[in-house]
Amino acid sequence: NLPSLKEKYKEDFKVGVAIGYGELISDIDTQFIKKHFNSITPGNEMKPESVLKGPNNYDFTIADAFVDFATKNKMGIRGHTLVWHNQTPDWFFKDENGNFLKKDELLKRLKNHIYTVVSRYKGKIYAWDVVNEAIDETQPDGYRRSNWYNICGPEYIEKAFIWAHEADPQAKLFYNDYNTEIPQKRMFIYNMIKNLKAKGVPIHGIGLQCHINIDNPSVEDIEETIKLFSTIPGLEIQITELDMSFYQWGSSVYYAEPSREMLLKQAKKYYELFNLFKKYKNVIKSVTFWGLKDDNSWLRGVFNKPDFPLLFDEHYDGKPAFWALIDYSILP
Ligand code: G3I
Repeated sequence: NLPSLKEKYKEDFKVGVAIGYGELISDIDTQFIKKHFNSITPGNEMKPESVLKGPNNYDFTIADAFVDFATKNKMGIRGHTLVWHNQTPDWFFKDENGNFLKKDELLKRLKNHIYTVVSRYKGKIYAWDVVNEAIDETQPDGYRRSNWYNICGPEYIEKAFIWAHEADPQAKLFYNDYNTEIPQKRMFIYNMIKNLKAKGVPIHGIGLQCHINIDNPSVEDIEETIKLFSTIPGLEIQITELDMSFYQWGSSVYYAEPSREMLLKQAKKYYELFNLFKKYKNVIKSVTFWGLKDDNSWLRGVFNKPDFPLLFDEHYDGKPAFWALIDYSILP
């Protein structure tokens, strides 16, 4: 019988959660989701590789189920994602002989994809992650050398926003990325968005993924990023994929169980983060966790060790991090 997280922040921003189909068809999970969250993001099910069965061949059965669930329960739903170097079928970039498409051919395919997906859910999705992770700060010009870039140059980015806006003029269109606290990356993203806006490209917001860990980046570093992006007139910020690993990147540490000390450290940082988000609530309109409970976090799958990045444990119990976001004064 936990207090409701979304109630707690109802004057501040939407509180969202990324879920998979497994959760969507589980009664226990959906009850829990409805209680604590007022926004959902399909973690994988709207990505190109999930909806595309072959060239011009779509299967929206599962994606539709997410949109129906959100609509029926009056929750917001974020669309994730249209243009990414990952989880896009290899054939998308190639012709029937396996050769890479030419720029105009790939852009035509992209336009068709965006029109098909975005117009299907017109008026139902409040924010689309139109372009995901296109910046790589180790490149001299900051653009990730993906199939998209290698074939089209940076032009695919603005085209994607223009077409998404044509397909659903009401949806807010986001550029979404991780590690946005790295100073060079932050500047590349800032300049890209400023330039796109100056050209009149319909880009409405930036999604800060916020896959962070207990040590890095600091709350101060995250504030630097929010402060900088909030200087772009009219630009909205959403926290799109929040989680807080127990491990620093690449660390060989292994925690079989979460210690009390680590749980409290995590709680403190979540508390400080939410204070920061509230401070910027004029620009931050939604905060989404990347997963419901620790046991189904993507981090466990990818790094193949126990991790405890979210607010709830496998028994649906609120961890200290949950309580910190409800009432920090009750923690020791
Ligand atoms: O569905 C198959 C299953 O049939 C198979 O047995 C199993 C074995 O590997 O794999 C399952 O697919 C996995 C899928 O998640 C569904 O669980 C893929 O291997 C796995 O690669 C995939 O990982 C996803 C990851 O994106 C891939 O890029 C994560 O769930 C998803 O949370 C993660 O999300 C990304 C965001 O889209 C963008 N930002 C970073 C974030 C975290 O990586």
